[in-house]
Amino acid sequence: MTLPPHPGVPPGIATLADYETAAQAHLEPKVWRHIQEGAGTERSLAENRAAFARWGFLPRALADLRGGGTGLTLFGHRHAAPLLLAPMAYQRLAHPDGELAVVRAAAALETGMVVSTLASMTLEQVADAGREAAAALGKPSPPLWFQLYLQPDRQDSLALVRRAEASGYEAIVLTVDAAIKPAGITLPAGVEAANLMGMHRIRHTAVPGGGIVLGTPLADTAPRWEDLEWLRSETRLPLLVKGMLLGGDAAQAVGCGADGLIISNHGGRVLDGVPSALDMLGAVADATGARVPLLMDGGVRTGSDVVKALALGASAVLLGRPQMHALAVAGMAGVAHAIHLLRTELEATMAQLGCGTLDAISSERLWAFDG
Ligand SMILES: Cc1cc2nc3c(=O)[nH]c(=O)nc-3n(C[C@H](O)[C@H](O)[C@H](O)COP(=O)(O)O)c2cc1C
Repeated sequence: MTLPPHPGVPPGIATLADYETAAQAHLEPKVWRHIQEGAGTERSLAENRAAFARWGFLPRALADLRGGGTGLTLFGHRHAAPLLLAPMAYQRLAHPDGELAVVRAAAALETGMVVSTLASMTLEQVADAGREAAAALGKPSPPLWFQLYLQPDRQDSLALVRRAEASGYEAIVLTVDAAIKPAGITLPAGVEAANLMGMHRIRHTAVPGGGIVLGTPLADTAPRWEDLEWLRSETRLPLLVKGMLLGGDAAQAVGCGADGLIISNHGGRVLDGVPSALDMLGAVADATGARVPLLMDGGVRTGSDVVKALALGASAVLLGRPQMHALAVAGMAGVAHAIHLLRTELEATMAQLGCGTLDAISSERLWAFDG
């Protein structure tokens, strides 16, 4: 397939894997390690890719593909494809334009973006840049969701939610799987948690120096179910919970009023040894019925990965590290090109499978290599 030229994108990049390979040369070694690494032995990180490799396809012959497309509606907003950009902390680590480059790419490709609490630009700056880019291109503003890390003081968490509401964010994503995680990178000068400036108590999630956890403020202020109920009562925006893997937890979150779930193991970065989100999708779908949309992330790198996730019960997938790779290589053009590549792969896979629409994708189109 010949792709249109993308100014600023180096020649020879035709897949997200190519972006990953090219990115290393654009990043400081410690930033590269920070983006790529998983927790512990990286077993869960590896599973995120291995889980996709265990599935193959059973294509229908001579299917009618007329009038097909990849569009879907999520929480009242039309998405061009079942693909969103996952929340990523500190995107200025990869490129000076950081989140602004990503949101401009999201606007150009009409793709949803989940903006992190730990963004290196403020959530207002990101929303404004998205709106301006969309207006310049004559397109609707991209759907923006705000990812919330609960802060030790509820007033601070609420202030973030109110700012997101005021800036036109269309959903809140509460991440629940990263309250306690391995120590992160020491931020270089000029990269900071822009949304948290001025807060007197910020939730630091890293275990300091491998020290004890239980009985310390780190564990004592970790979010609990009552915090989810509180958040639900405080906002009318759709509320998604990100970072659950178990059907029981997922059903309880829906019972608390969650409007959607993002099944995720945080890119294999928190608890080593947990299964991949892809492997847990079926059980979560069974436990929650069709009550809320299920999204997933972890290891999505090709269009066929997207099809597999949808066949196993996801409504849409999110893309994590590839954003940073494309951003490092070619800024906004790189991220836009990466989204374009994934979408063209998705369409090719759907057409080859005999699925003209997302509704036609089901587990009947999958083949388990391991039986
Ligand atoms: C460098 C990095 C930063 C991340 N920052 C956040 C974050 O701020 N909030 C969050 O909910 N998840 C964060 N995640 C997890 C991603 O949202 C996503 O769940 C994960 O990267 C998906 O896996 P993938 O990288 O294999 O696509 C981060 C992941 C990475 C690699």
